[in-house]
Parts: sequence; C-alpha cells; structure tokens
Amino acid sequence: MKAMKIGNLNVSLPIIQGGMGVCVSLSGLAAAVANEGGIGVISAVGIGMTEPDYKKHFRESNKTALRKEIRKARLKSNGIIGVNIMMAVTDYEDLLKVAFEEKIDVVIVGAGLPLKKPDYLSENTETKFIPKVSSARAAKLIFRRWAEQYNRVPDAVIIEGPLAGGHLGFKKEDAIDSKISLSSIVKETVNEMDFFEQKYGIEIPVIAGGGIYTGKDMFEIMTAGAKGVIMGTRFVTTNECDVSEKFKQNYISCSKDDVTLISSPVGLPGRVLTNDFVKQIQQGKQKPINCAWKCLKTCDYKKSQFCIADALFNAAQGDFTNGFSFAGTKAYLAKEIISVKETISQIQQEYLQEKLCFDLVEV
Ligand SMILES: Cc1cc2nc3c(=O)[nH]c(=O)nc-3n(C[C@H](O)[C@H](O)[C@H](O)COP(=O)(O)O)c2cc1C
Ligand code: SF4
Repeated sequence: MKAMKIGNLNVSLPIIQGGMGVCVSLSGLAAAVANEGGIGVISAVGIGMTEPDYKKHFRESNKTALRKEIRKARLKSNGIIGVNIMMAVTDYEDLLKVAFEEKIDVVIVGAGLPLKKPDYLSENTETKFIPKVSSARAAKLIFRRWAEQYNRVPDAVIIEGPLAGGHLGFKKEDAIDSKISLSSIVKETVNEMDFFEQKYGIEIPVIAGGGIYTGKDMFEIMTAGAKGVIMGTRFVTTNECDVSEKFKQNYISCSKDDVTLISSPVGLPGRVLTNDFVKQIQQGKQKPINCAWKCLKTCDYKKSQFCIADALFNAAQGDFTNGFSFAGTKAYLAKEIISVKETISQIQQEYLQEKLCFDLVEV
C-alpha cells in the first residue's frame, strides 16, 4: 500500500480509523491504529459522559475528557492521532479549541459543512483539517468558500458514501436501497479537487469511506482515485476498541438484516443494529427523555422521540435495553474479536490479494 501524504504528514498506512461516539473510539483504539501507521481517531461527541460530574458540568466534562484522552493516546503512541468533532454538537467550538491546544495532528469534522475556517488554524499550525462530507458538491462548496475567504483550503477531504455506520449525509431512501456509488462520488470529488490542487500547487487527498471493510473494498476504491480510506465498523471488533464487550459481541452475532436505519434527533438518518429499543422507536414509541443539556444544536427534547446521547452512551456501556449501537452495512462480516495489529494485517493481505488479481488481469 502506498503511503498517503496530507500536507507534510506522511501516513505510512493509508487508513483512517473513523471516530466513533459515544465513547466507542477513545485513546485505546486510536493509539493502537496510530501504532500501526494509520491515523487513530478519538471521537469527541459525548466524551465527557464518563466524567463523574457530567450532569452538572457537561461542557467542562467534555473538554476535560477530550484533553485526557488525547494525552493518554500520546502516552501510548508516537503515531498520528486525530479527533473527530461533529458540527451538530453545541460545544463544537470548545472541543475544537481543546484539540488545537493539545496540538492534535488531525481534526476531522462531520455532520455539517465547515464553511468557516477555525480561528485556531493559522499558517504556523501543524494540525491538519479534514471535512467529512457525502458529495463532490459539498466538498467543492467548502473548498471554494475557504479559497475565497481565506486564500487557503482544507488539507484533505473525506467522502463518505451511503453504506457507512452512524449518521449519514443522505436521505433515508437513498441510504436503504442505494444506487449512489461511492466510487462515482470519489471520482467526481477527485475532479473537483484538481482545480484547487492546481491553484495552490498542493496535493489534496480524497479519502473514501462507508462500507469499506475488506482490503478488497479498499483496493477497489483506491483504484477509483481515493488516496486512503476511513474505516469505522471494522475496528469495533478489536481488543483495543474502547467499548463494552457486549457491544462487540452484538456485531459478531448480527446478520445482514439486523443492520437498519433510524431517524436521529441530529436531523439525519443513522445506521444502527436493530434491537427492541430500535424497533420501538421505528414504530413511533416515545421514550422517556432526561435531557441533561442541549448537547445537539438540532435536538429539542420536548419534541424528540428519544435522547440519542443517552441511547448511544448506554449501548457503549453494554446496556442495550436502553440503547442501541451504530453500525455500518458490513458489520455482519465480523467474526471474532482480534487485535488491531491482526486486523490491519488481514486488511493488508486482502488488499494485496486483490491487487495481484488486478495486475494479472491487466497483463
Ligand atoms: C459505532 C459508530 C459510531 C460512529 N460515531 C461517529 C461520530 O461520533 N462522529 C462521526 O463523524 N462519525 C461517526 N461514525 C462514522 C465513522 O467515523 C466512519 O466515518 C464510518 O464508520 C465509516 O463507515 P463504515 O462504518 O462502513 O466503516 C460512527 C460509526 C460507527 C460504526
Ligand atoms: S435530549 Fe437531545 S439535546 Fe438533550 S441530551 Fe439528549 S440528545 Fe442531547
């Protein structure tokens, strides 16, 4: 596999581990992936929920926990560590500030279009800024706005297709029976980035994700022009993933049909593993809500059917009576819980096998 360059950052293994909230990807998983040469990502969403006084001091708890997890990851790895922050959270700016203060290597922003450059991102900042979007149009909009306003552009772009786990930038109907192909969006985005690469004399890697599970998936999407991939689902069933054992086991025992969609209070569809809780919300049942604070810009607890922060946090702790897990379409491929090292070695073997077949056909 060819290393991926993001500005002056050399990513020897072109895999970004997707940030997974709430409290699924923390320092343990991020450090393990970084140690293998990829980018390990801590998800900042709801990260303070494990702090003892979260219900009293949520903002402070989120900041404290994020700082702690970044520092823990740094102690475990000298590799590349990133933070994923959703624009949809109320404390987006606070979390960004902590990440920059801690001199994080990479910031990935999803669930919204970061049209405004963070104030902390200056000429001298080493942190790389990467928006995660779902279309070439959205990518172009961000890059054009940055070029006009700041005479610079983000360092890379992540394109996430409709097969991903978690919140999706697609309508439910497009995500269910998707005719939208990730490789087409990747090709379109590569074309759009060409203009900005020429204008600034830089390389802007397009990184693809959503249903990339095997090395074969990875090879195929890189053949379409991606310089790297983002994988979330595949890393859940690793020893180092920071989530409960029950969460991981649910991935291993699930079938293809267990992966389904819900409408999230974030205002986007979310891909999840079904259970009784999910069936009830799909049937329109109102769940009790104890809104600790308005953690999401879009969520009005008086109108919401359930509290997604609590539901995801409960599942992360192993309580599936009061919650559910996000999962990508390929979650059913998980067979065992193994180390990140073994997982990456499997992906590399699958990739090489596919490359070999491809090269043979080309000859
Ligand atoms: C359990 C889980 C939690 C996730 N949480 C977040 C999150 O907090 N923020 C975010 O931007 N993306 C989140 N995602 C999406 C991942 O970062 C990544 O983009 C996605 O998993 C890639 O698709 P895949 O699941 O098919 O590998 C989550 C995905 C999963 C599976
Ligand atoms: S009800 Fe909505 S805003 Fe309140 S804590 Fe839950 S997810 Fe956050």
